[in-house]
Amino acid sequence: MDAISLDKQARDILTLNDRGGYTVPTEGLYPYQWNWDSAFAAWGFASFDITRAWQELETLLSGQWPSGMVPHILFHADDPGYFPGPGVWGTEDIGPVRSSGISQPPVAASFAKAVHDRAPDQGLPHIRTLYPKLLKWHRWFMTWRLDQGMIFITHPWEAGRDNAPDWDAAMAAIDPVGVGEYTRRDTGHVDPSMRPTKADYDRYIWLVQRGKRLGWVDADMDRDPPFRVADPTITFILLRAHRDLGAIADLLGESRDEIDSWITTLEAGAENHRGPGGHFCGVNLLTSTHTGHLSSASFLNWYAGIDCDVMLKALDASFDTATYPVPSHAVTSQGFDGMRYWRGPTWAIMNTLIGRGLSDMGHDTHGERLRRQTAALIAEHGFAEYFHPLTGAPAGGGTFTWTAAIWLAWASPNAGDV
Ligand code: SER
Repeated sequence: MDAISLDKQARDILTLNDRGGYTVPTEGLYPYQWNWDSAFAAWGFASFDITRAWQELETLLSGQWPSGMVPHILFHADDPGYFPGPGVWGTEDIGPVRSSGISQPPVAASFAKAVHDRAPDQGLPHIRTLYPKLLKWHRWFMTWRLDQGMIFITHPWEAGRDNAPDWDAAMAAIDPVGVGEYTRRDTGHVDPSMRPTKADYDRYIWLVQRGKRLGWVDADMDRDPPFRVADPTITFILLRAHRDLGAIADLLGESRDEIDSWITTLEAGAENHRGPGGHFCGVNLLTSTHTGHLSSASFLNWYAGIDCDVMLKALDASFDTATYPVPSHAVTSQGFDGMRYWRGPTWAIMNTLIGRGLSDMGHDTHGERLRRQTAALIAEHGFAEYFHPLTGAPAGGGTFTWTAAIWLAWASPNAGDV
């Protein structure tokens, strides 16, 4: 299929998944508004409907909790096809919109800046309204999720990489006693071999039940945590988002002192993510152990503004071993599973962040190669949620919002990269 037809198909997917003010990641499997999916959607919408792009971000931030936390799911309208839905979280008295109780990688400030830069005059009033909310959200991360300069997660869903090997040891240490019976819905939508296991889900739900019991009060959640893993996804994404928020502050004539101090903290903290061999990886803070896993999140260092020769060599190795890089778990690693969610598949959105980071830092050949390979993957295998890194086989949900969005904003030969 030619690029013009693919552009049209991508726009049609965004329109298909539009529920009026917010976009679902895909019909059926994910019937609500997801946090980082939505920010990618806004970036995609900006290529053909700037007003709709701003609306997406504004709806997302309308779910912000009084603490500043922006939930990972906003349950705008009930859908029994998803578990765990609004009734499970126990958050009804906390935020302005029914929601989950945890957050997700904060890409929103960076995409707000990208949407603004596409049409600055139109964007100024929107970015002025969003700025204090984004600032408050970033402050929440720096207050409640900071340890040794790294950002940690309290639930695998917070990283967006649900079943990544980075969490294996921390998850194995949890005994999900008393979790009770529940019915998963995800495996009714897609093949179970592409999803997390029952052992994973028992622990996901057990952690949600703990949060509910504690009323999601940050200070209480912080005491004797059963799961606390520093996550390169959020450390790197937040560092980049701080830089973009700083640029927005400049634009608005606001002081950026606080943001600059956060940048300094995370720049130093990013070094603590280096495991054996100098690769960036997760750190189990309950055992002070680096996970050692090379994931696609490991390669977000350039996106965060951190150059690194060791990672460039690892990227070359990834280019050599995967037909469609970058796999979420290295194809040569033990436990690689090419179809199982974050244990092997390639995710086009991660490639976008990695590729933009590479180009921003002058590694144009690598960045452009990754962009072209991602474009080929989508052109040959469609707008899937994720793909097998060796065969390109599409996996998870189809007609996927964020894959369509990054096609329009980055991968398509016609994309204007802003
Ligand atoms: N990714 C999770 C799910 O699959 C939730 O964020 O349901």
